Amino acid sequence: MAESITITDNRTGESVEIPIEHGGVSSGPWTKLLPGIWFEDEAFTATAATRSAITEIDGDAGILRYRGYPIEQLAEQSNYLEVAFLLIFGELPDDQQLAAWTHEITYHTYIHESVRKRFLEGFHYDAHPMGMLVSAVAALSTYYPNAKDIKDEEIRHKQIVRLIAKMPTLAAACHRFSVGMPFVYPDNSLGFTANFLSMMWKVAEPRYDANQALAKALDVLFILHADHEQNCGTTAMRVVGSSHADPYSATAAAAAALYGPRHGGANEAVIKMLTEIGSLENVPAFVDAVKEGKGRLQGFGHRVYKNYDPRAKIIKQTAEEVFEVTGKNPLLDIALKLEEVALSDDYFVSRKLYPNVDFYSGLIYQAMGFPIEMFTVLFAIPRTAGWLAHWQELLQQDQRIARPRQLYVGPGVRDYVPIDQRQ
Ligand code: CMC
Repeated sequence: MAESITITDNRTGESVEIPIEHGGVSSGPWTKLLPGIWFEDEAFTATAATRSAITEIDGDAGILRYRGYPIEQLAEQSNYLEVAFLLIFGELPDDQQLAAWTHEITYHTYIHESVRKRFLEGFHYDAHPMGMLVSAVAALSTYYPNAKDIKDEEIRHKQIVRLIAKMPTLAAACHRFSVGMPFVYPDNSLGFTANFLSMMWKVAEPRYDANQALAKALDVLFILHADHEQNCGTTAMRVVGSSHADPYSATAAAAAALYGPRHGGANEAVIKMLTEIGSLENVPAFVDAVKEGKGRLQGFGHRVYKNYDPRAKIIKQTAEEVFEVTGKNPLLDIALKLEEVALSDDYFVSRKLYPNVDFYSGLIYQAMGFPIEMFTVLFAIPRTAGWLAHWQELLQQDQRIARPRQLYVGPGVRDYVPIDQRQ
């Protein structure tokens, strides 16, 4: 059987044969055959907006790989900074490269004092930390004006390092401000996640030594969240990046997309949902209400994974390790019951709705003491590496500016009517 499709314009009888490559067909030949006929694809469910060599997902098989490496192996054997290197540069680092990369990131964790004093402290006392983070990342572009020089590889590299390094500092600063605690400066003697935990929780002790099991668990969560190919946030990054905006502005756009409850905001929504359910007896009634269309089961379903989300499997294991240190999150039993009821119900089974990465991550974050407003922020920190890998790839590919078409369905031409003559 030929690995191609044939499109025929029945108005003219003309045909074009288009090869199927990597499971898709290029729009080039058929737009030539059918100029002005748009392919309607709301929410891009059948559109590959790019060719990418970063992350591979096979939703039916439950496969997730970064640059070819299975997520299970990376979660077990690697660490977040090494994974960030892999995503950005395409290969795992050798000893020297990893040491140099770790040093670079560690020594760019400080933020300009006025970002904190003038900018972050200018927010209202109850500002949501994710709203603060989105704005603070955008504001960074005004501190590094040469970041606009996106064609200069060295400058590009510097901004990538700065963004990955400063994200935890900004995130912790947003939290400290929201709870009225003084800002904690980065400690360059600590690893990436231990340093973040120090900036989050340090009080009066000279040095905050995070529990190693918790720092490791957070590192695993960072690996799992580091990239996920063309999701909503990454698409926002690529769309804004395609206009050649600086990487801080593009990252702010990606973070804004992540903020929504259908995307990275789902982990926050899961905890709210479990709290609202309140007890095991209420689970069946809650599931029935979802089936009647009254809301969604937060942390369930995925656009791509239609079998299971491989990240959810690893997170369940990580949750057990965290609960050994922190004690069990009281909402865990409700979550397990909800999963059990949903997975044996035809409504969820027939729609291929399974727990996704956010179903259990919130329970871990909560057990570790993070307020729920910080959950999406915790997603944004590691995803920054993925966003930047895609941004760099887009520039290396010299992609054209993103500009989809629309099918106009509004009124035809009509004459303006002065206000006193309108019915
Ligand atoms: N609970 C109940 N029903 C659902 C759910 C859910 N969580 N998700 C999808 N459905 C139903 C939906 O009503 C529809 O049913 P029908 O065919 O009868 O109309 C069917 O399943 C297909 O749903 P869809 O909205 O077309 O699916 P989608 O691919 O557009 O949406 C999703 C994917 C993740 C936005 C959606 O499943 C959802 O809203 N889940 C809850 C929010 C969530 O957990 N988001 C985190 C996603 S993973 C992390 C990330 O990407 O940030």
